[in-house]
Amino acid sequence: MSTPPGQVDPPPRLLMGPGPINADPRVLRAMSAQLVGQYDPWMRAAMAETSALYRDVFRTANEQTLLVDGTSRAGIEAALVSLVEPGDVVLVPVFGRFGHLLVEIATRCGAEVHTIEVPWGQVFTPEQVEEAVLATRPKVLAVVQGDTSTTMCQPLADLGEICRRHDVLLYCDATASLGGNTFETDAWGLDVVTAGLQKCLGGPSGSAPTTISPRAADVIGARTHVEEGIREPGDVDLGTPIASNYLDLAMIMDYWGPRALNHHTEATTMLYGARECARLLVEEGLDEAVARHARHGAAMLEGLRACGLTVFGDVAHKMHNVVAVHVPDGVPGDTARAALLTDFGIEIGTSFGPLHGKVWRVGTMGHNARTDAVLTTLACLEQVLRAYGAPVTPGAGVGAAREVYAGATA
Ligand SMILES: Cc1ncc(COP(=O)(O)O)c(C=O)c1O
Repeated sequence: MSTPPGQVDPPPRLLMGPGPINADPRVLRAMSAQLVGQYDPWMRAAMAETSALYRDVFRTANEQTLLVDGTSRAGIEAALVSLVEPGDVVLVPVFGRFGHLLVEIATRCGAEVHTIEVPWGQVFTPEQVEEAVLATRPKVLAVVQGDTSTTMCQPLADLGEICRRHDVLLYCDATASLGGNTFETDAWGLDVVTAGLQKCLGGPSGSAPTTISPRAADVIGARTHVEEGIREPGDVDLGTPIASNYLDLAMIMDYWGPRALNHHTEATTMLYGARECARLLVEEGLDEAVARHARHGAAMLEGLRACGLTVFGDVAHKMHNVVAVHVPDGVPGDTARAALLTDFGIEIGTSFGPLHGKVWRVGTMGHNARTDAVLTTLACLEQVLRAYGAPVTPGAGVGAAREVYAGATA
């Protein structure tokens, strides 16, 4: 028999890419707590507390606020497979890779998918979206708030009203932006929102916080199906079955709700982590968390500019928590990133598709939206840039970031 490997012991890393980031140690501590049976009254209370905390994080009164087990993509699939029936029209404004992901998932749900597109680095005006709604008459408008691939943050404030006027359900993927950028589920009229923990929420990936408006819950509830074996007298199948069992939001609502109807085995450790992520945000205050991301994001942006790097895209519509910069001419982008990782233990990202190898994405989010993380990253990146011949004034990046901090009011 071969000798088994030693216990997992990852190298120390500062994760300053577009996510995942280093989890907040308090989240990791919460996740080391012992398991409890899923129908233990304590556990049901912990689930209720988690729902209440995420109502605050999403800024909603939605009763149906719960966790979908799985990474953010599980939340997206749950939302779309539960809202969309084969043949339904779905409209997706695409401004980056994750818009394409919504198209891909909606297509697999059997939807007739229409898209509008802007070049990567831009966002849509409400007029562009309304024009497309009028042209395609969708059942669901599916939109990403912060598309990590481009760092852009789509303004959502007017889209809910447009959707109400035209009787459209509004789904939003807030994975990359929630907690670091203003987000208002109810005030903006969003029907279903899904997220993940690994960005501004400061946790690991593996749980998808989700909130569902009463009108979306009605649409989903009209497709309720109770599994054979747990069915009770009076249970009847309603509407077109939801094509996924695991991601059936009607079933998951029944599991989280007062009926506590058996579905999957609770991913208890992820629930502890998700609860702690939300608890920390609520304790800090959502407005303060957004201001913190704005402050550290601005320091990073100015620091990178002072290193001679040019910011990609429409800076006015950038998420607070991540910035993309063009890889300077003559610098081998992937080799330089690898040097930052091996020599300094710092990870930054590139991007996808048309931006692959052309930009670096640097995040300041969750637990890593901190002064020391920003300054250390800038100091080390400067060394790497200089090693590859980029003309950087020594100390310029750190100096510019410190000036932002000195002038910051928030
Ligand atoms: C905006 C957005 N949506 C969805 C995802 C997919 O998330 P996951 O990898 O957790 O499934 C990501 C991941 O980076 C993302 O940034």
